[in-house]
Amino acid sequence: MTGTSQKSRRELIQRPKGTQDLFGTEVERWESVESLCRLHFQNAGYQEVRTPVFEHTELFERGVGEGTDIVNKEMYTFEKSERRLSLRPEGTAGVVRAFIEQGMARWPKPVKLYYMGPMFRYERPQAGRQRQFHQVGLELFGLDTPAADAEAILMAMRLFEQLGLPNLSLQINNIGTAECRERFKAGFKALLAPILTQLCLDCQTRYGSNPLRMLDCKNPGCQAIYAQPDLQAFLQTDFTSEDCQAHFAELLKLLDALKVPYHRNFMLVRGLDYYTKTVFEITSTNLGAQNAVCGGGRYNTLVEDLGGPETPAIGWALGMERLMALVGELPVKPLDYYLVTDQHAAAFDLAEQLRAQDYKVEVDLSGKGFGKQLERAAKLNARQALILGSAEVHSGEVQLKNLASKEQRVVPYALLLQGNPE
Ligand code: HAM
Repeated sequence: MTGTSQKSRRELIQRPKGTQDLFGTEVERWESVESLCRLHFQNAGYQEVRTPVFEHTELFERGVGEGTDIVNKEMYTFEKSERRLSLRPEGTAGVVRAFIEQGMARWPKPVKLYYMGPMFRYERPQAGRQRQFHQVGLELFGLDTPAADAEAILMAMRLFEQLGLPNLSLQINNIGTAECRERFKAGFKALLAPILTQLCLDCQTRYGSNPLRMLDCKNPGCQAIYAQPDLQAFLQTDFTSEDCQAHFAELLKLLDALKVPYHRNFMLVRGLDYYTKTVFEITSTNLGAQNAVCGGGRYNTLVEDLGGPETPAIGWALGMERLMALVGELPVKPLDYYLVTDQHAAAFDLAEQLRAQDYKVEVDLSGKGFGKQLERAAKLNARQALILGSAEVHSGEVQLKNLASKEQRVVPYALLLQGNPE
């Protein structure tokens, strides 16, 4: 082996761009938020579903849409045994596949599901935008009622309130059905035809394939054109059907009654193709450029498009990384006891009995002197140290040392196990 290759073998291997290691108290913060989400969903009758991290590429092509950036540019796709597979860029398509494949379409309606896990998009990483990120999502199948929309939105808003997220705004829009969008296409395209060449190349392509998505363009030049009064006036004259308008009006009425503030955003169209009628995003001004902590909407034809029976549905997903950036201090369980010892059999036994009573206990494993072990206990912010040497094992007692007051006294095991003798 040459010198260079030996050196390169020892070179530090770093994590891939756009990914994160989570460790230490940050994992504890994530766990407590995940537990809160689970409880919040379960209390409202939602059940967890766990689907694979990779699926057949075709699922996302047909589900999320071949005209979307997510499918066109951002999927991690690979081939195995002549099958094209992709890491999931989002959760809905997989959940819908499972809903159909596992016969959940035959369950009494509504079917209420939630999920959490990693998603993968090959995007340019920046603050709040990773290549591997984590979503917590909710999907409600089988109802096309404004009440179902209201419940889904309320589930997100109340969760964020519980977590104390600052400066939130619920942006909401009605994009209608496929027929409504044909009307939109005709009117919108006619207005833009004379100035088409002033738009970016992406928008010019979308003009032919998917004009609604043009509104999602981040190019400042295009944004300025879409903000012009004639285009805004067109967006605000509802191009959706009477049925879609009535559905949306009823939803807004429910949100008003529930005192959920919202902003009707006529530019909100979302980056996935499966939406019908209601779409929404929850943003926070504390987040910077990537300001959406949650996004979702109604998707009344996706189940059918993926081969299932006609089933309306609505759902949303929140981004955990963005959520955690907004969540303030969370209580971390303190260390109740640190066992300072050279009598490991007895120490493990005592630790297990205390843990069975839900105390957080660590046993020193270093074999160092008790002085050093006590220093370690202080570093870990343990509430109390339990000193267990051979004399204590003999007498069935333990020395209890309060690390803040330094007060130390002898306590029989039995008393310790009856409760905290502080
Ligand atoms: P989405 O808007 O693409 O919707 O993603 C939902 C949330 O995931 C975003 O609001 C954001 O917080 C987070 N997110 C997305 N991409 C990234 C990224 N690259 N880095 C960090 N966070 C990110 C969906 O995925 C739909 N499946 C939601 C849905 C469920 N619609 C109906 N049901």
